[in-house]
Amino acid sequence: MSENDALPVLLGQHPVRDLQDIEKGQLCKQERQPSEDDIAVVTTHLKYCEKVVLNFGLVFALAQGASTPAVAWFIAEAVDALQARDPDNVMKRMGPILIKIGAIALIQFLLGFLWQSCLAWAAAKQSKRWHLSFVGVLLSLDVSWYDEHEPAGVAAKLEADINNVHFFMSKTLGFLIASFAQFMGGLVFAMITGWQLALVVCATIPILLFFGHLLGKEIAQQTIDQQRDFAQAATVAEESIMAIRTVAAFGGEGKATARFEKELLSAKLGGIRTGAKIGFAAGGLNLFYSCFLGLPLLFGGHYLLSHNDVNKTGMVTVIFAMCVAVSGLISFSGFLPILAKAVASAKAMKQMMAAERVIEPPLHTMGELPDKLQTIDTIEFKSVSFRYPTRPEKWVLQNFSFRVEKGQKIALVGESGCGKSTTIQLLERFYDPRGGEVLVNGIQLCKVPVKAWRQLIGYVGQEPVLFATSAMKNIKAGDDSISDEQVMEAAKGAQIYETLMGLPDKFETFVGAGGGLLSGGQRQRLAIARALAKSPQLLLLDEATSALDNESERMVQETLDSLLG
Ligand SMILES: Nc1ncnc2c1ncn2[C@@H]1O[C@H](COP(=O)(O)OP(=O)(O)OP(=O)(O)O)[C@@H](O)[C@H]1O
Ligand SMILES: [Mg+2]
Repeated sequence: MSENDALPVLLGQHPVRDLQDIEKGQLCKQERQPSEDDIAVVTTHLKYCEKVVLNFGLVFALAQGASTPAVAWFIAEAVDALQARDPDNVMKRMGPILIKIGAIALIQFLLGFLWQSCLAWAAAKQSKRWHLSFVGVLLSLDVSWYDEHEPAGVAAKLEADINNVHFFMSKTLGFLIASFAQFMGGLVFAMITGWQLALVVCATIPILLFFGHLLGKEIAQQTIDQQRDFAQAATVAEESIMAIRTVAAFGGEGKATARFEKELLSAKLGGIRTGAKIGFAAGGLNLFYSCFLGLPLLFGGHYLLSHNDVNKTGMVTVIFAMCVAVSGLISFSGFLPILAKAVASAKAMKQMMAAERVIEPPLHTMGELPDKLQTIDTIEFKSVSFRYPTRPEKWVLQNFSFRVEKGQKIALVGESGCGKSTTIQLLERFYDPRGGEVLVNGIQLCKVPVKAWRQLIGYVGQEPVLFATSAMKNIKAGDDSISDEQVMEAAKGAQIYETLMGLPDKFETFVGAGGGLLSGGQRQRLAIARALAKSPQLLLLDEATSALDNESERMVQETLDSLLG
């Protein structure tokens, strides 16, 4: 843009075109839908061989649970043996029964060991993968995503979600399967031995289904609400800690704590509200257990024995089999809340993984720039209109046009809030325009691979952000192809070389969190050195001196003057 037409266009003198035309500017939208809606969602991130190991674990857990009711049979045999009058005869009959009990105990030990090992292994693998992929996902989300979500809260929530799924898979899933198999095994055993009694037991199952469903639903909802509330509270805490100097300078420690408490209050109130519903459901489950045991005892005692449909040993077997089944059911329902929590967490994580990217899908390799774009010859804004997704009612740019040729140095001049930084963000392609086109060498910028494009650009923001590492690593910004010599040259170009050489460990000096161990001017010049080290074809400087005092501004201005020639 020539300096002359910058201001009028930035102030938006031209009428906006038809809104629908402008919305068509979103050319590179990717459609993604989260799909699975069941328990399998907790295994989303397992590889094929890990799923095989997991399934083996589940089979072992199933076998362990299903073999447990055999004890009822042995106990019934033992009760039968105890009825013998002769003590020697009792001991003779007890021996083989004890051996069978010992054998089943050994089998249970082996099966328990196997499923625990398999599931813990698969859970550990998946947890590591969730962690790894989330760093990638969080870094590949559109910049605009962070306009709507708090970065600090997102990290805290993800950690809690990963832990929920890991805990479920490693510590709960096996017990859940084993206890269900124990329940089913006990019930089947009871059916075979005395089907009338077993049917009475089944009549109580709808009570279980109703209250169990209520419990699971409430706990899942509570998990989602509480995680949201705690993430918000964590955001407040992290914000205050990150800005500790400002908080301390304004004596804001008390206020920050009060804000934190206020956020926690919502989690507390939500917990109390759902607590009552969960209590009702848990009480209902107790009602079920009582019916489960009481009804068959009543029915068996009064009806079956009087009608001689079942003998006393059979009755003892059925009752013990039902006790084993009930204890399996109690364990099973106890694990359901953890299942509900893990499913809610896994779904939330899956949704996050599938978050829509407007700018570019997450690619592991950098797309190649077209031949025509090896050097930047022209940049053109053609009737660009833009509004931020979080503030759709306010147009920041309207029909904004300018053209820059290779070698030109241009400045955007305008009042605060008129859209200078926004223009730079459109050039970085943090956002796509809502209307019009941003063209580079005549190619629409939204059709250019974004990572490769950003490699061509050096960017210094209004408030430079440095990482908590050495000056050297900050200037390289993770790009190992930049040599130490190039870093030195860039530091000289940014007039920070002498300053860095004067530090205790020279370029290896740790600059503190956010560069807090350097002065504002030093931080800004380090950020300029970082931009220069990339040998960029396009240097974007967004009011690189705006946040500085007079002396620092003078030094940085000298640096910029020397760069701009
Ligand atoms: N991420 C965002 N989400 C919503 N609105 C935003 C966002 N960033 C900036 N804005 C709004 O867009 C408008 C233009 O902001 P911009 O930062 O481009 O102004 P600027 O010209 O750089 O101002 P300054 O000279 O103060 O830096 C402002 O009204 C601002 O409030
Ligand atoms: Mg700005």
